[in-house]
Amino acid sequence: MNSLSNHKASGSALTTLLGGIVILIAVLFFLVKLAGSNYYSTVEETTQSATETRIMPAGNITMGDGTPIGQRTGEQIFSKVCIQCHAADSSVPDAPKVTHNNEWAPRIAKGLDALFNNALNGFNAMPAKGGQADLTDDELKRAIAHMANQSGGSLVAPEVNADASGAEDTAVASPVTEADGQKVFESICMACHAADSAIPLSPKITHNDEWAPRIKQGKEVLFKHAIEGFNGPDGGVMPAKGGNLGLSDDEVKAAVTYMVNQSGGSI
Ligand code: HEC
Ligand code: HEC
Repeated sequence: MNSLSNHKASGSALTTLLGGIVILIAVLFFLVKLAGSNYYSTVEETTQSATETRIMPAGNITMGDGTPIGQRTGEQIFSKVCIQCHAADSSVPDAPKVTHNNEWAPRIAKGLDALFNNALNGFNAMPAKGGQADLTDDELKRAIAHMANQSGGSLVAPEVNADASGAEDTAVASPVTEADGQKVFESICMACHAADSAIPLSPKITHNDEWAPRIKQGKEVLFKHAIEGFNGPDGGVMPAKGGNLGLSDDEVKAAVTYMVNQSGGSI
């Protein structure tokens, strides 16, 4: 009887021990899982990017106001980038300070081109582009003129809008190209202007003889007729924007350009 109860007691001790081990393993398993979870790796990423942010070169900052690259004004750039060293009360040695006309006078005397070249490539303690690598040439000129013109100068830098029509700077608001013209042609104008279209009176693409008299009118007339619509002398009807009023004027012009240039013209 005694021995039986002893046996029972040691059996329950064993059960407790085993139970403890199972719980321990479960806890360990949970901890390992937690350590490998996304939650932790996200923290790690954030930490790394926070570190990169902390160690990034001075001036390498985002404008943060949504203005597309190429369209930023001299004032915007100055107040985010150049101000770090060129502020009126800056303590950076040698940097000409805005509104300190005496410091700017000898610089302004070099002319915008020389100042631009030095600001572009760096000049003694002046870092290339002030450290803001994504500035376009025109933006840099605007920032220089902005500073110089508050400091006794009257430099003329390219306007923001002049930028919008220049192809080189504008990754975002890129102008409508002849390739876009081909797309517009294929989706809309082709219905009536395809080389083998059966629509009467419409000049067909690649039929140079049909386009020649139209091209003679000049491209402005062609653009106008394509945008506003046009009734020909023999009753042919060119609907405004080919009937697709959702097209921008520039898209219609690009399509006209594409058709004309495929048909003996060069506009
Ligand atoms: C990290 C400091 C710093 C930043 C940021 C900075 N500059 Fe400068 N800049 C200088 C210093 C220093 C000089 C004077 C260099 C010298 O003459 O030795 C200078 C000089 C210039 C000059 C005169 C060059 C010449 O030929 O005399 C121009 C123009 C200029 N900076 C434009 C800019 C513009 C534009 C920005 C912003 C996009 C900018 N800088 C941002 C430090 C800076
Ligand atoms: C529904 C048929 C139709 C569609 C779609 C159409 N056109 Fe036309 N288009 C015509 C006809 C017909 C004429 C000839 C009118 C005439 O001179 O009698 C014409 C003429 C033109 C001319 C010559 C105008 C002139 O002054 O001689 C241009 C340019 C032109 N279309 C451009 C376009 C463009 C660009 C598109 C697409 C965005 C387009 N068309 C879509 C029917 C169409």
